[in-house]
Amino acid sequence: MSNDKKTLTSAFGCPVGNDLNTATAGPRGPALMQDVHLLEKLAHFDRERIPERVVHAKGAGAYGYFEVTADVTQYTRAAFLSEVGKKTDVFARFSTVGGEKGSADAERDPRGFAIKFYTEEGNYDMTGNNTPVFFIRDPLKFPDFIHTQKRDPATNLKSPTMAWDFWSLTPESLHQVTILFSDRGTPANYRHMNGYSSHTYKWYNEKNEYYWVQYHFKTDQGIRNFSGPEAADMCGKDPDHATRDLYDAIEAGEYPSWTLEMQILSPEQATDFGWDIFDITKVWPHKEVPPITVGKLVLNKNPENYFAEVEQAAFNPSNLVPGIGVSPDKMLQGRLFSYHDTHLHRLGPNYHLIPVNQPKNAPENSYQRDGAMRVDGNGGGGPNYWPNSFDGPSPDGVSVEPEIPLEGTGGRHEYGHPNNDFVQPGNLYRTVMTDQDRTHLINNIVGSMGSVPAPIQLRQCALFYLADKEYGTRVAEGLGLDVSTVEKLASMSQDERVSETVVE
Ligand code: NDP
Ligand code: HEM
Repeated sequence: MSNDKKTLTSAFGCPVGNDLNTATAGPRGPALMQDVHLLEKLAHFDRERIPERVVHAKGAGAYGYFEVTADVTQYTRAAFLSEVGKKTDVFARFSTVGGEKGSADAERDPRGFAIKFYTEEGNYDMTGNNTPVFFIRDPLKFPDFIHTQKRDPATNLKSPTMAWDFWSLTPESLHQVTILFSDRGTPANYRHMNGYSSHTYKWYNEKNEYYWVQYHFKTDQGIRNFSGPEAADMCGKDPDHATRDLYDAIEAGEYPSWTLEMQILSPEQATDFGWDIFDITKVWPHKEVPPITVGKLVLNKNPENYFAEVEQAAFNPSNLVPGIGVSPDKMLQGRLFSYHDTHLHRLGPNYHLIPVNQPKNAPENSYQRDGAMRVDGNGGGGPNYWPNSFDGPSPDGVSVEPEIPLEGTGGRHEYGHPNNDFVQPGNLYRTVMTDQDRTHLINNIVGSMGSVPAPIQLRQCALFYLADKEYGTRVAEGLGLDVSTVEKLASMSQDERVSETVVE
C-alpha cells in the first residue's frame, strides 16, 4: 500500500475516524445527534440533484477542437475563424429532447448538437440540432409544443394524441415531422449524425459588411440511422447506447469528426426565395445556396466527471463573439432570453464560474459581482461600477455589429408566405428520400398514430396529402382511413379543416 494514501475527511478537511458505524447510545441505538459526520453526509446527499434541463435532459459530452480549413475573413471577423489552420478548444454536448435524464438514447426525437468554442474573444456557443429545420417558427408556441412531447398531465404517460393534435393544428411543423418520422429521427448514435444551426445567423467582417449564414456540421463517420424496430429494440437493450458509443469511441482513440459547411448569403442575394430566409421551418436549397467548406470539428477527450462537466454545462445562443451575430428569426430571438434564464434557475447566478462554462481562453472582465456561490475573487478590491476613474475595464468601441434595415409596424405578425409549408416536405418525400426511406417513414408514422382519435388522424393526413398525394394516401391507408375524406379535407383551408375534425 502506498505511503501517501489519503485520509478520509469531512467536506471541510477534518479527518473522519469511522465511516461505517453511526454513533449511537448503546449498541442498538438510537442515533446521537452529535454524529456530525453522519449529519453532514446525509445533508449533502439530500441535495445531490439539481433540476434536470427542462428539455434535452439526457445527453453526453466530450472535448475537442475546431480547425479552420478555409479563408472566411471576407465574411467574418471572428478571431477564432481568422486563419487557415487555426485551432480552438471546444466542448460538445449531444442530447435527446423530450425524455427525462434517465430516458433511452434511441427514442424518436431530434438530437441536440451543442458546441461551445472557447475562443480568445470569449465563449461562442452554437446550440443546434441534428435537423436543419424546427417544428414551429414562433417562440410563443415553444412551451405548448414541448408540453406535447412530455407526459400527459393525468396519466403521466407519453401521449401520441397530444403530439399529433398539436402538429395537425400547426401545419408549419410538417417539414420537421417528416424528418422526425424518417429514420433520421432515430440516429444510430451521436457520431453518425449531422448537426445544423437550423437558424439563420449573421456573420460580419472587418469592414462591417454582413452576411446571413447557416451552419451544417456534416459527420465524417457517415450518416447511420436505426429503423423504427431497431430503435425500439435498442431502447430496451441499452438505454444508454449513444452515450456509451461516444465515450467508448473516444477512449479507443477513434475520434469522431464533422466537416463544417456554411451556406452564406449577402443581403443583396437574400431577396425573395418564396419563403422568408429567417423562417426556421425552411431550408435553403443547396442548389440555390451551395454550401462552402470552412473547418473541421474533432472530439478527442472524454470528461473526467459527468456531473461537473456535462450536467453542469450551460449552452446559450446569446454567447456570441465579434464577427457573429443573430438574425431576426423569431425563434432565435426567443432563445436569446430562455437559456441564460433557465441556467440561473438550474445552476445559479454564478454558473459562468463552473469550469466547463468559463471563458478559459479569454479574460472575464465584467462588473457583475456577488450572488450565491461566488467562488472566484469577486473582483477583489477593484471598482464594481462603470464608468469609473480607477482603470477598470471599459468597452472597446469596436465590438459593435453592423446595423440591419428594419421595416413595418410593431405588432403580432405572422411570417409571410404562409401557404408554402408543404413545398419543402413534399420535395423531401418525393426527390430526396429513397423507396426504403419512404416506406420506413410511412410505417413509423402509422405506428405512432394508431391510438390517436380518428378526427386528428384525418386532419394530419390532409397535411401529408398537401405535401404529396402519395404520402397522404399511404399514411391514410395504413391507418385504415377513407382516402376521399382526406382528399376533401386537403382541399379546405386549415380553419375549415379544423372545424370539420372536431374530437368528441
Ligand atoms: P438537395 O438534393 O440539394 O439536398 C438534399 C439534402 O437532404 C441532402 O444533401 C442531405 O443533406 C439531405 N438528406 C438526404 N437524405 C435525407 C433524408 N432521408 N432525410 C432528410 N434529409 C436527407 O435538395 P435541397 O437542398 O433542395 O433540399 C431538399 C430537401 O432536403 C429539403 O426540403 C430538406 O427537407 C432536405 N434537406 C435539405 C437541407 C438543406 O440545407 N438544403 C439539409 C438537410 C435536408 P445533408 O447532407 O445535410 O444530410
Ligand atoms: C436546451 C429553450 C428552441 C437546441 C434548451 C433548454 C431550454 C431551451 C430552456 C434547457 C437548457 C438548459 O437547461 O441547459 C428553448 C426555447 C426555444 C428552443 C425557448 C424556442 C423558442 C431550440 C432550437 C434548437 C434548440 C430551435 C436547435 C436549433 C437546444 C439544445 C439544447 C437546448 C441543443 C441542449 C443544450 C445542452 O446540451 O445543454 N432549450 N429552445 N432549442 N436547446 Fe432549446
